Amino acid sequence: MTEFEPVIDVHLIPDDAKRSLQRDARVGLTSEPKWLQPKWFYDARGSDLFEQITRLPEYYPTRAESSILQAHAADIARRTGAHALVELGSGSSEKTRLLLDALAQSGSLNQYVPVDVSETALREAVAAIHEDYPRLAIHGVVADFTQHLDRVPGQRPRLIAFLGGTIGNFLPDERAVFLGQLRDTVLAGEWVLLGTDLVKDPDVLVAAYDDSAGVTADFNRNILAVLNRELDADFDLENYEHVAIWDCENEWIEMRLRAVAAAKVTLSELALDVVMQSGEQIRTEISAKFRQEGVEAELAKAGFDMDSWWTDPKGRFALSLARAR
Ligand code: AVJ
Repeated sequence: MTEFEPVIDVHLIPDDAKRSLQRDARVGLTSEPKWLQPKWFYDARGSDLFEQITRLPEYYPTRAESSILQAHAADIARRTGAHALVELGSGSSEKTRLLLDALAQSGSLNQYVPVDVSETALREAVAAIHEDYPRLAIHGVVADFTQHLDRVPGQRPRLIAFLGGTIGNFLPDERAVFLGQLRDTVLAGEWVLLGTDLVKDPDVLVAAYDDSAGVTADFNRNILAVLNRELDADFDLENYEHVAIWDCENEWIEMRLRAVAAAKVTLSELALDVVMQSGEQIRTEISAKFRQEGVEAELAKAGFDMDSWWTDPKGRFALSLARAR
């Protein structure tokens, strides 16, 4: 059995995360307008709230993407013949099982390589997958996929999955950098599987980011709880309203936190005071929505040829399978 015991590489320790949170908070909260990086939503409570979001009636992306994977996992396995499945931002790895089952059945798969910034989340995901796939080699990597792509192992050809529409959290130029770095770290002939949410009726989009149960509002405010705990800040969460707007020019959803009343916030660990005017907003996330032509063009520019494009029956979400040129 020992040859199948999972291996975990750690390239990121809690101290690194702490320093980058300090840097991001200082830069973002001293900017005009103020902003924070969405990656700081995901402490234990934020990850739990996100799991709840994925089950909300208004939040269709997770179900839509799963239905595409259900329908096309076997195609993906057959077309790629991948020896390793690499998953960027693996989180709880639920959708992974659909891919693992298909790749295992087609006989090509030897290895699963989940990559996540959270060592706890990664260890849990690795243990759960190991339990259910005891004969699969698992090589987990604790890393930031915007920094450490070159440290991602895996037997070639690899299929690198970046699911959930998380690429939409990058600004367009960050997307180009990310896809370029990804291309630099793979060999010609290796594969990328990219999940992207699609442009659609703004009412449907806004509802997905402003649900009637208020879970997304709590998820959004949780970023302030993270700053309170990690940077010894004193945001009063009750002073902040959740805002979700559709930016039709940029074709992205923007989430913000709006200060109901003026406030002075102290981030003790940064020795920083931040003044919030009444009504002032902090941008906490952009979630870009895509069109087929745009995805194909961005992939092509980075050096990937689109092989297949699949959507769910309602055309809400897409999976792109692309091959490094
Ligand atoms: C996990 C980044 C894909 O943008 O839809 C859900 C996060 N934010 N509701 C998204 C999120 C608000 C989600 N991603």
